Parts: sequence; C-alpha cells; structure tokens
Amino acid sequence: MTTAPALKPNPYFPIAQLQCETDAGIETIPLVEERAFSSWQPTIPAHYQAMAVEELTRRIHAARATLGERVVILGHHYQREDIIRFADDRGDSFALAQYAASHQDAPYIVFCGVHFMAEAADILAGPHQQVILPNLEAGCSMADMANERDVRSAWRELGELFGGTNDIIPVTYMNSAAALKAFCGANGGVVCTSSNAGKVLEWAFTQGKRVFFFPDQHLGRNTGHALGIPDAEMVLWNWRVPAGNLGGAQPAALEGARVILWQGHCSVHQRFSLTQIAEARAQHPGVQIVVHPECRAEVVDAADANGSTAFIAKYVANASAGAVIGVGTEINLVSRLAKENPDKTVFCLDPVVCPCSTMYRVHPAYLAWVLESLVEGHVVNRIEVPAEHKRDAKIALERMLALK
Ligand code: 13P
Ligand code: SF4
Repeated sequence: MTTAPALKPNPYFPIAQLQCETDAGIETIPLVEERAFSSWQPTIPAHYQAMAVEELTRRIHAARATLGERVVILGHHYQREDIIRFADDRGDSFALAQYAASHQDAPYIVFCGVHFMAEAADILAGPHQQVILPNLEAGCSMADMANERDVRSAWRELGELFGGTNDIIPVTYMNSAAALKAFCGANGGVVCTSSNAGKVLEWAFTQGKRVFFFPDQHLGRNTGHALGIPDAEMVLWNWRVPAGNLGGAQPAALEGARVILWQGHCSVHQRFSLTQIAEARAQHPGVQIVVHPECRAEVVDAADANGSTAFIAKYVANASAGAVIGVGTEINLVSRLAKENPDKTVFCLDPVVCPCSTMYRVHPAYLAWVLESLVEGHVVNRIEVPAEHKRDAKIALERMLALK
C-alpha cells in the first residue's frame, strides 16, 4: 500500500505532533494524500486512491445520472462540501431518520454520515431497500463509548440496587449501536436525538421514576437542566470502572438520582470552552453564540441558544443581516453556514480547524466507488442490522418518531 505523505502544516496549529488526523484543512485532496487514509477502509480499489476531486466529482455526477431514481443520497450536516453537494436531502440525525422512514421508493440509500445513522436508516427503511455507507470506517467515537456488554452489566447492577428495573427507563441517544437501540426497545425505553431529547425525557418520566441515559453525558445533563432537574439528581456512571462497583457512583447518590448519565462524550464538542465564549464576546460585542447540546453544560449555559445541527442552521439563517454569530459545532457545518449567509459574520468558536474525523472519512473517492459499483450491479458496503436487533431497535426508534 502507498503511504500517505507527511502532514501539511496547519497555520492555526503549529505543533504538528498534537494535530488531530484532519487538522490539515478541510479541502478535499486525493484519498492517498489524506494523512489518515491508512486507517480508513483500505479495500477501496487502487484506481480511486489518487483521483483528484474534479475527476471524482465528474464520475459521481455520471453514476448518479445513470442510476436515476434507483438511488437516494442522504448527507448529514457535518459532511464535507464535496459530498454534501450530492445529497438529495441533508439534515440532522433526526431528519435523516425520518426521511428514511418515510421515503421508501429508491431501492438504494447511500448514507453519507456515520455508522449509527446508516444503521438507523436500515432499521426504518423498507425491506426492499438497501443502505450503503460509503466508508465502513466512518463511525462515531462517542457511540463507541457504550457497548452492549457494559450497558447490560450496568443495567443488572442497577436492578440489584433498586430491586428491579421496572421504574428505570433506558434512553439511548441516536449516536449508539443498533444493539443498544434494541436494548431500549426491549426494556420499555426509547431513542432520542439532540432535536427531541427534552420531549423524550418528559415522556420517559411518564413511564418510570428514573432515566438511564447513554452514551452522551452532556446531552443528558443539558436536557435534564432544561427540564429543571438539579445536578444533585443526575449521577454519572463511569463505564471504565470495573463491573460490580456501580460505575463508581455511591449507592445513596444513585438512590436520589432521577437521571443516571453514562460517562460518554464527543471529543469534537468537548473542545468548546467558556474561555472561547468569553473571547468571542470580548472581541465582538453583541455576538450571538449558538452551540450544540453535546457541549459541556457550562458552555451551553453561557451560550445564547443551543440545539441540533438543523437548529443551528436555522438559527443562523434566521438571524438579522449584519449579525455576528459564534458557533460551537463541527467545522464543515460552520464554514458552510458562513458561505450560505454572506450577509452575516459566522465563525467557529474553536480557532483550530478540526472536523469530526469520522464524518470526514466519507471522502468523494468512496462515494464514487459505491455509486459506480451500483452502476455495475454490485452493492458494496451494505449496512444490514441483524434481525435479532432490528425488531426491538425499530420499536425504540418508532416510539421516538411518534412523540409529537
Ligand atoms: P445532530 O442530530 O444534531 O445532527 O447531531 C449529530 C451528531 O453527531 C452531533 O455530533
Ligand atoms: Fe460522533 Fe462527535 Fe462526530 Fe457527532 S461530532 S459523529 S458525536 S464524534
């Protein structure tokens, strides 16, 4: 295999050893030159690896034209520009799940996003539809912080402590494996996204006394705060603590808890800080700050607004001409919002250019490969949730979709 050349220096990040895998900028370069390509899906045929973005763009257009209505391309807001331009529908994870549940015409759904999103689409799509994830290595580091074995083990411990689990409602963030959505479906629980977590938690409290929320502690805590639940009634469960130790929590604290929060986080959103907000307010008097609820509670509290990626896009679009808006979310979305709203000043609160490194793995070379394979009659990179998880995961997802 060809090795990737050395990382190009990033003017915003002079200490090369500390750069993350995508710190070198967000413009598309040939796959083989991407610093992190060696850890991405290597089975892509060699001839795609050195293609320039212009060639890939031409090939993607041609393949789409040939496939016509047999394929629909979905794009999450964090996808790079050279991908999102091909999306038939773009959105936050809720909107894309809704799309998959309600558009069952195209036999192929190419999901430009990350693994858990493609799984949700497969669960909600019709049995005649196949979901394709262009790069199988496009996962989510937060979703990986909760695995089925650890969650089931925590559930058993909670059951022993409380004398049963009837009063605990498991709520999983969309950013989780299908097995965990199935666990929730089978145990009276539900899925939530950043756009409906408040509504979902309210529903959960009509079903039981406590909520077991995973994997994102920050979304869980921020949603709890918005519902008026104090920190003292939200207890962290540290999944790194060996089983049998109540996730490092005190039994009395758990007894008094209304929300038990899995200690997961998003490394992109944990980068946003109070200092950045203070600097933005000092440099731009009157600046409006909008952040994603995966940010820490102190950041969300200091912002003017918070919400899902779709909420953030709408917030910027609805701001008055001349507004200055500091955004706390992934850089591909922020830079797109800046371009789409030339009458406003839109900037990322984090000065370091670092996209979500897993979303970024959907390089146009992979999109060209999966589409051209479809043209040739082959389905590559299909995401198929096993039947044993599909039924219960669908129950949990449909409970969420039914909440008005
Ligand atoms: P949204 O549902 O707001 O699009 O968020 C998904 C995500 O992964 C944010 O990091
Ligand atoms: Fe996962 Fe964070 Fe990337 Fe969203 S931004 S997909 S939570 S790693």
